[in-house]
Amino acid sequence: MIAQDFISKPFSKHISSGSTTWSSPSNIALVKYWGKREPQLPENPSISFTLRNCKTITTLRYSEKKNDGNFSFEIFLDGEKKDDFKHKIETFFNRIKAYAPFLEHYHFTIETKNTFPHSSGIASSASGMSALALCLVDLEKELLQLNDMEGFSANGDLSSDKKSLLDDYFLKKASFLARLGSGSACRSLQGPLVVWGHHDEIEGSTDLFGVSYPFEVHKHFRDYQDVILLVDKGEKQVSSTIGHNLMHGHPFAQERFKQANRNISNLKTILKEGNVDAFINIVESEALTLHAMMMTSQPYFILMKPNTLKIINSIWDFRKKTGSKLCFTLDAGANVHVLFPGNETQKVLDFINNELVVYCENGNYICDQIGIGAKKI
Ligand code: DP6
Repeated sequence: MIAQDFISKPFSKHISSGSTTWSSPSNIALVKYWGKREPQLPENPSISFTLRNCKTITTLRYSEKKNDGNFSFEIFLDGEKKDDFKHKIETFFNRIKAYAPFLEHYHFTIETKNTFPHSSGIASSASGMSALALCLVDLEKELLQLNDMEGFSANGDLSSDKKSLLDDYFLKKASFLARLGSGSACRSLQGPLVVWGHHDEIEGSTDLFGVSYPFEVHKHFRDYQDVILLVDKGEKQVSSTIGHNLMHGHPFAQERFKQANRNISNLKTILKEGNVDAFINIVESEALTLHAMMMTSQPYFILMKPNTLKIINSIWDFRKKTGSKLCFTLDAGANVHVLFPGNETQKVLDFINNELVVYCENGNYICDQIGIGAKKI
């Protein structure tokens, strides 16, 4: 598919007002997206586990307005008006308006809430942008009035395979729009594993939107848990857009992009065969490489905190002592995601409570696990 495939068909149905609500989860990358080019395309493919508990629930209310070429919207987080989010949404709307021409025809009220605390240092952009993109695509679906589209039977019903084709198209479109809001958001719509970015060995993978990982996954990886240790709940030191831009002209960039491709090739076999040790090696190396890229860019940053390193060392000691298969990964911040197979849950939670909780801000952590993606509420 190409971007033009997502340009809307002319709308025929007239809708004066309405609302739609979607819930969409966060995701945690195993092979990281770090480096992008216009328009919001990744420099390398990435793959992530979709989460289950950390999610954003967004209601989009729309009422018709005069099309004066402007966007009109307000945004509420947990019932509180958030004018400081407006700039981000305005940028998002500008990026997607060619694909969502109805944006200038409506006044929108966006009501959003997260199941995780806003001040937890967990980025809500992946879950937030994907939930909003799904609401917008849902409105578009309404406006297109299904009978106007090809593939309908004489009585106006969609045959079931046509219906799933249509659902498939809208899912892709929602992921495509979410990507234009925040790259990693395009990996949040489905689960449990999603690939974003073209990879030669993954059929259907594309830079335009996220796709469900299409190959066999060993049972060892089907109930993975993710405990997020909140080391630093502050605002991000470096916005991800600034961070991605640091890869332009970075001395190690090209080698890094090749490495991400290699890691995904290797993960294919690892995921199929259930090789957890090799999985740990790739996931931890990816996390440290992401931070190495930040430490070696101009300007340079250290986003880990002393407690991040203490946690990493404790995880390594625990693994050595007990043979546990837990491992860590990091995003562009100090918090640590502890990943482990479901059958180790009790053992790892005991370890976290006994040894790691002291390194968390106010002793806070969030228990999550892999999930299957977004849903309409
Ligand atoms: C480190 O998706 O937040 O979490 O596209 O600028 O919104 P933008 O960036 P964003 O980048 C996330 C990067 C990462 C790694 C990953 O999730 O793959």
